[in-house]
Amino acid sequence: MANENRILPQHIAIIMDGNGRWAKNRGLPRSAGHIAGAKTFKSIARYCNKIGLKYLTVYAFSTENWKRPEDEVNGIMNLLRDYLKDAENFKDENIRVRFIGDRTPLADDIKALMAKNEEDSKNATGLTLYIAINYGGRDEIVKAVKKIVNSGVKADDINEKLISDSLYTYDCPDPDFIIRPSGEYRLSNYLIWQSAYSEFWYSDILWPDFKEKDLEKAIDDFSNRNRRFGGI
Ligand code: IPE
Ligand code: IPE
Ligand code: MG
Repeated sequence: MANENRILPQHIAIIMDGNGRWAKNRGLPRSAGHIAGAKTFKSIARYCNKIGLKYLTVYAFSTENWKRPEDEVNGIMNLLRDYLKDAENFKDENIRVRFIGDRTPLADDIKALMAKNEEDSKNATGLTLYIAINYGGRDEIVKAVKKIVNSGVKADDINEKLISDSLYTYDCPDPDFIIRPSGEYRLSNYLIWQSAYSEFWYSDILWPDFKEKDLEKAIDDFSNRNRRFGGI
């Protein structure tokens, strides 16, 4: 399936978007779209691990998604709960799971499950999977600035590395490739500091329909990009 000459990115970040429209197209409630999207997430994460990707970050819930109806938010939180309870399965896959975002407003049992998943998988040597929950790029930067100010560091000692090191993603290289399905062409507050030199890939496919072959197509496209980082 995979083109052997392709260049695998080091870190792929995905905006898992289009669940609601996928459900609407089928006359189903939005919750059905989130259930289908969660399935796609699991198979894409497994696939990324299988092909030897080092880092995958997925956008599961943004700091802005609380604006949605309470029912929908509860449905997404319940899916997260199920996933976390089930994530034991990932153990066999050697996937290291980490969560980024502000956990404060999440339910206590979810917070405990997140911590357990991180602890249980911390020595895995395959894919590192970052799941962004109640994540917002601006919120992340505000928190980093607070941390830096509280540390008493002098203004002259503030540099890009210190800021990067103060973000949720402190131990993770910047994403070299960002994928957004569902026909939207925006970042929606995702990894806004880290994406300074990311390559972008957009597609009309709705997330629940996104398949391994679509990821391969995206990676093929990435392989043909000429990354210059401001040079020539
Ligand atoms: C992404 O799908 C899932 C979350 C944001 C939690 P959407 O629910 O945003 O789907 P659309 O964009 O309404 O189709
Ligand atoms: C981005 O999708 C957030 C996630 C996929 C979790 P949204 O559906 O919330 O983004 P907008 O509102 O269309 O920008
Ligand atoms: Mg959306």
